[in-house]
Amino acid sequence: MSDLSILFNPKSIAVVGASNKEGKIGHSILVNLQESGYAGNVYPINLKEEEILGYKCYPSVKEVPDAVDVAVVAVPAHISINVAKECGEAGVKFLVVITAGFKEIGEEGLKREQELVRICKEYNMRLVGPNVVGIMDNHTPFNASFTPGSPPKGKIAFISQSGAMLLAILDWSRSVGLGFSRFISMGNKADLNEIDFIWSACEDPQTSVILCYLEDVTDGERFLEVVREASKRKPIIILKAGTSTAGARAASSHTGALAGSNIAYDTAFRQCGVLRADNMAELFDLAIAFVNQPVPAGKQIAIVTNSGGPGIIATDSVERYNLDMARFSKETTANLRESLPVEASVYNPVDVLGDAPADRYRTALEAVMADDSTHCALLMLSPTAVTEPLKTAELAAEMRQKYPDKPVFAAFMGGERLAEGTRFLADYGIPTYTFPEPAVKAISGMVNYAHMRQKIENAEPLYTFDNIDRQAVKATFYDVIRDRRLVLLGNEATQVAQAYGIPVAPIYLVNSPDEAVEKAESMGYPVVLKIASPKIIHKTDVGGVKVGLTSAEEVKNGYLEIMESVNRLMPGTPIYGIEIQKMMPPGNEIIVGMTRDLQFGPLIAFGLGGIYVNLLKDVSFRLAQNLTRQEIEEMIKETKAYTLLRGYRGSDPSDIESLVDTIARIAKLSLDFPEIAEIDLNPVFAYSDGAVALDVKITISSDDKLE
Ligand code: COA
Repeated sequence: MSDLSILFNPKSIAVVGASNKEGKIGHSILVNLQESGYAGNVYPINLKEEEILGYKCYPSVKEVPDAVDVAVVAVPAHISINVAKECGEAGVKFLVVITAGFKEIGEEGLKREQELVRICKEYNMRLVGPNVVGIMDNHTPFNASFTPGSPPKGKIAFISQSGAMLLAILDWSRSVGLGFSRFISMGNKADLNEIDFIWSACEDPQTSVILCYLEDVTDGERFLEVVREASKRKPIIILKAGTSTAGARAASSHTGALAGSNIAYDTAFRQCGVLRADNMAELFDLAIAFVNQPVPAGKQIAIVTNSGGPGIIATDSVERYNLDMARFSKETTANLRESLPVEASVYNPVDVLGDAPADRYRTALEAVMADDSTHCALLMLSPTAVTEPLKTAELAAEMRQKYPDKPVFAAFMGGERLAEGTRFLADYGIPTYTFPEPAVKAISGMVNYAHMRQKIENAEPLYTFDNIDRQAVKATFYDVIRDRRLVLLGNEATQVAQAYGIPVAPIYLVNSPDEAVEKAESMGYPVVLKIASPKIIHKTDVGGVKVGLTSAEEVKNGYLEIMESVNRLMPGTPIYGIEIQKMMPPGNEIIVGMTRDLQFGPLIAFGLGGIYVNLLKDVSFRLAQNLTRQEIEEMIKETKAYTLLRGYRGSDPSDIESLVDTIARIAKLSLDFPEIAEIDLNPVFAYSDGAVALDVKITISSDDKLE
């Protein structure tokens, strides 16, 4: 990993384009450096000035008498290339290019950006940007950006692909007093990107939570590796913008049609332990949850409230976000009954009633926090005439101290009347929300994080597969490409699956009704006929499939009917013959598939199969990279199909193990052969003993990866 310790702890910073004129970016950067209390050397670079803000000026970085660790570039784009070269010659280690006018403006800008990157490489300089607001570290401290001042000091690192977002957050953070360790504007990410900054924040002792605003991920595979490691150490919360499916590429398989790029991001984040926020509010709701609190040991929540309605809302949220209400012991309940008014509710949520002063809250909180079933507490307060907001808030702090392993959340539902209490909670680091739902959602985020982290920590290598024949797959692909096709015929796809130990119903290609009958007789009835054409993906739709044929006559007629229907509905389509397959006894219909995501590689799908796949969309996804057995099991359990597989209404349970094995083998096949674009095994019949794929579709992208 790139070592960014010098970037965030530089001994000297030059500002190229520093200006004496207020209102110019080169002036603001220098003001920020000065006001941030940066203790290192500052060198303004300006062609005409002698001195700016009391710092001695130099006409070029090359004239600076000492080594420069970081140069912040704020000169117009056409000058910036030459400036970068001078910085390289002067031995600058990091360039932060504020200047806009690169890739984001089109062809000309892209060329300029490529030249900038080339120069940086030549001189072994690392580059932040171009097109950035700048960077800052509140603990070093320094602010090398043109933000209007710095945010309060704290433990959150904020990494943003959008400069505007960074500026907005900075302003907002000051109004709510939220503290940050680092602010990083990544801009065009021509060199250093989110992976470098996440890893660096992970290594930074002053950062305890990492937040990112991302529009894309630069290198999916590396992201999965590095961020997976980082998330074991610190919570990483990402808001990924651009979730619409408009950009999803056209896909010919069921799996491809089901999986947009948004699903790939979702899956990638989950598999590498990243919490994905749906919006800005949630990003920070989660951040404040993590920043000062331990992760709860489980998902049981105790709620103490002074009003019934909000208590019910919170309880509903607990269920919605897959948490559980703590179930107090008999002793706890008895204790509460004894010490609270008779009208109070002593079960979870504990309702201490609208006239509760802080002391009554104390009784309730003490009891529920001490109960073993409580992993986390939510303290809720609605303002009544007798409410004591500050004293009640202080209680939350007291509980945090007394029970350091149990996080406490607050929902102080009101405004002015509760302000004093809310401020105290924020200053003390108790996550506080205006309404219960975001509080519960944030708790659920923590629980999810703990779960993801546990999975990553306990991950074991998936399998060692013995009966795998790579050469056979290569040979099949070679033949397909030689035939100038990218879609494998059924019998070819079957050979590929079989070479990877995936159970498939045997299938043969025949070219006449008589040949079909001959094969049927040798396999035994009943049989299935399917049209074999590289141009026909959904065979049923064109009358290209006949099932349950039990005699020579039915096979002959079936053959002729398929040919007639296909020729009528798709005249001129190349037809390679008809595939004949032994009809398998019915089982639970499942789909296992793969579509290759441009960013994150093979994305594996599992779900309810058959012809209604796209209609029912009962599918779960995982990326093949780092796929673990636990992930595969979870992926199966996430679907409704799992209810069928467990044995529904008296039917025998299906052999889940053989499905796990099939998924693992599809993942392996996809990773071993990057030229496979899409795979569909649909349907796979799952039996109580084993599973078998009836239809295998494989599409390859090109032959350039074949040896
Ligand atoms: N070395 C040192 N200083 C130089 C120089 C050089 N080779 N060439 C010019 N300068 C000086 C200029 O004389 C000027 O100083 P002055 O104010 O004393 O005259 C200073 O550098 C800045 O140059 P100027 O031409 O005035 O540029 P500018 O300040 O108007 O604009 C940028 C420069 C970088 C701010 C502008 O090009 C830009 O990119 N703006 C957008 C930034 C942005 O939005 N970034 C992304 C945020 S998300």
